[in-house]
Amino acid sequence: MNVIKVGIVGLGAQMQENLLPTLLQMPDIRIVAVCDSDLARAAQIHHFISDVAITDDFDDMLDTAALDCVVMACPPQAHRDLSLKAMARGVHVFVEKPPCFNLVELQHLIEASRQANVVTGVGMNFKFAKPMRQLRDITRTEQFGKVVHIQLNHYASKPTAPLWGLDSTLRSFLLAQAIHTIDLGVTFGGGKLQSIESRVQRHDDSLLVSLELEFSTGATVSLLSGTLFPYFEFDMKIVSSKSMMVELNNLWNITMHEPEHGTSATGTAKRWRGAWQPGPLDSGYERSGYFGELERFFDAVRNRSSYDASFESLLPTFEVIEQICQADSQRELAPARTLRTDGFAKSKAPAGVSFNAL
Ligand SMILES: NC(=O)c1ccc[n+]([C@@H]2O[C@H](COP(=O)([O-])OP(=O)(O)OC[C@H]3O[C@@H](n4cnc5c(N)ncnc54)[C@H](O)[C@@H]3O)[C@@H](O)[C@H]2O)c1
Repeated sequence: MNVIKVGIVGLGAQMQENLLPTLLQMPDIRIVAVCDSDLARAAQIHHFISDVAITDDFDDMLDTAALDCVVMACPPQAHRDLSLKAMARGVHVFVEKPPCFNLVELQHLIEASRQANVVTGVGMNFKFAKPMRQLRDITRTEQFGKVVHIQLNHYASKPTAPLWGLDSTLRSFLLAQAIHTIDLGVTFGGGKLQSIESRVQRHDDSLLVSLELEFSTGATVSLLSGTLFPYFEFDMKIVSSKSMMVELNNLWNITMHEPEHGTSATGTAKRWRGAWQPGPLDSGYERSGYFGELERFFDAVRNRSSYDASFESLLPTFEVIEQICQADSQRELAPARTLRTDGFAKSKAPAGVSFNAL
């Protein structure tokens, strides 16, 4: 398959601001139909492409458009339900995160994708951001050694109320925001997830979530996140068995700390450090990962190969989300005395949850 025929579903903010402009830059990708439950929204595609069919009925789009794949940016219940319909017709599926609301639904989607033998993808753009690829390359080198610890800080200010008809602000936050960072922890941790400890603090409508993960590789992850912060910020540190530390700030600056760092001008000396930044003219879609995620997805569709951010790849991330919600609801139910002495809620990860390092 050279040209891939794509149906777009959900022409809202995320599609118009990020996914559609990225798709329009890609060679051999043809948008042949657009579906939005709000037909006036669907018609907005004509500002970008004149010759494309629109509909507010997904079944109608599947019946008439001869699609190779769909790219969706809707609420999660639509991702879940429409993916099942598309996969049943042998259509490959890429959905924005989150693909669904919980682990049981994810397992159902994975089973359906196996039966249909289609490629699936979720918009985990952080994972494909250009600086993240640099980190992946650095942490794979022999000089860097083994990844021993990953520290992630993901500061957010929303959501402070439940989204998408859910009744839990915590689950909404984990699915809307922390899903990216948990997935990075799981990805760089490597191997099998062995234990999960979490604590949730609440202040008015805001949340603070602390998370500790342990992996079979020996790596640990420490994550601080929540909505108690003034605005969105993200930073990450990876510590290696060779006393190196690589630091990423805001998906932009990478700083490499080594026991000794040398340039021809400085010579070899302590406390110097190496720095990397994307070029000032790098396209925003490349830097933020939207280009990389879709490019790799379409490569997987063409080659019928696996995709790094498939439905299946998110299993450990959803295990973590379930454990955080479960530990939090047990804490809420526990008597006050237990709450003071209990410390973190700790649980073993379910057997068989594994993920290959990037
Ligand atoms: N990767 C990221 O960092 C990132 C960033 C922002 C949003 N998102 C995700 O993108 C998705 C969409 O977010 P948004 O901000 O664009 O929302 P939005 O409300 O602006 O757009 C959603 C669109 O989907 C349409 N829609 C809803 N149900 C539908 C159905 N059953 N069939 C067809 N169309 C339907 C709506 O009419 C709307 O046009 C969410 O899942 C969100 O989590 C991801």
